[in-house]
Amino acid sequence: AGPLTVLGIETSCDETAAAVVRVAPDGSRQILSDVIRSQTGEHEAFGGVVPEIAARAHIRILDGLVSAALKDAGVGFGELDAVAATAGPGLIGGVIVGLTTAKAIAMAAGKPLVAVNHLEGHALTARLTDGLPFPYLLLLVSGGHTQFLLVEGVSRYRRLGSTIDDALGEAFDKTAKLLQLGFPGGPAVEKAAMRGDPSRFQLPRPMLDRPGIDLSFAGLKTALRTTAEANAPLSPQDVADLCASFQQAVTDVIGEKSRRALALFAESHPQTSPALVIAGGVAANTAIRARLEAEAAKAGARLVAPPGRLCTDNAAMIAWAGIERLAEAQAAGKSLDERDAPAR
Ligand code: KG4
Ligand code: ZN
Repeated sequence: AGPLTVLGIETSCDETAAAVVRVAPDGSRQILSDVIRSQTGEHEAFGGVVPEIAARAHIRILDGLVSAALKDAGVGFGELDAVAATAGPGLIGGVIVGLTTAKAIAMAAGKPLVAVNHLEGHALTARLTDGLPFPYLLLLVSGGHTQFLLVEGVSRYRRLGSTIDDALGEAFDKTAKLLQLGFPGGPAVEKAAMRGDPSRFQLPRPMLDRPGIDLSFAGLKTALRTTAEANAPLSPQDVADLCASFQQAVTDVIGEKSRRALALFAESHPQTSPALVIAGGVAANTAIRARLEAEAAKAGARLVAPPGRLCTDNAAMIAWAGIERLAEAQAAGKSLDERDAPAR
């Protein structure tokens, strides 16, 4: 197979992003450009992402970002093999902006359009960064999703467990909101936790007493609120200790569930050298990473954690997922043009 060069576009939440990724015939992968503009400032006053504001910002920013991504990469439209864009799940206004833009570029340049599932983008990132072979275990922890998946191939996923209520990133964001640490909450809670005592407040570890790999974070949020109210008014040290205690509780839960998922993987794939991949925004959290590193080592598995910049929303992962789909279609002798296919 020849080299493949794909432009990726991501607009499903509050990051506008465009990137060009290339795979060489020998399989080596290169992120030729990766530009991203966060809209955090525009949503901050509302304490969360406002869909209508996000969609309008994507419209304003995206064209310039696409030009910048192509210029940085030194690639013209004619040198692209496809245009890939997030087709969901996400905020529908933003998704339509990105997908329509991608479709227009694809039509004008006479290239195929690849509609990418946002979660698949996160799920395949470890193959871009580390060339990881299938199958592997994936812990996807973002603002909207928290699940353990068995990744057997492109578009071949088996869900082993998931949250029954809040996503972990959402729990971080709500904790930050409760403690008035601003938005987005994850990095703020992590930063405050570094100065805190994780053993000061006893918070629950939901679902640890039950078998299985499902998770729950709603009860923890309630416990945190009650504890915060009981200790009001909160000093900066109280806030740091609450953050550290919260982070310790979720780290314990994620660690134990990962141990169980790794055991399950070893059982079903005794011949495969096991790998645990973390993806999604929360995978940028260093305390959670350290714990997963330890669990993987205990299970004789390898932890693959893409750099934080590629764990949060970005377009390189969308371009890469486009390349994977394109390569798969080529290998099967099929053409891949989804310009008229419904969004997935
Ligand atoms: O994957 P992502 O960028 O967007 C989607 O939700 O798809 O994930 C964003 C989530 C937010 O909830 C954010 O608070 C969380 O990831 N996050 C973190 C950290 N960085 C981002 N959570 C904990 N620690 C972090 N360092
Ligand atoms: Zn995401």
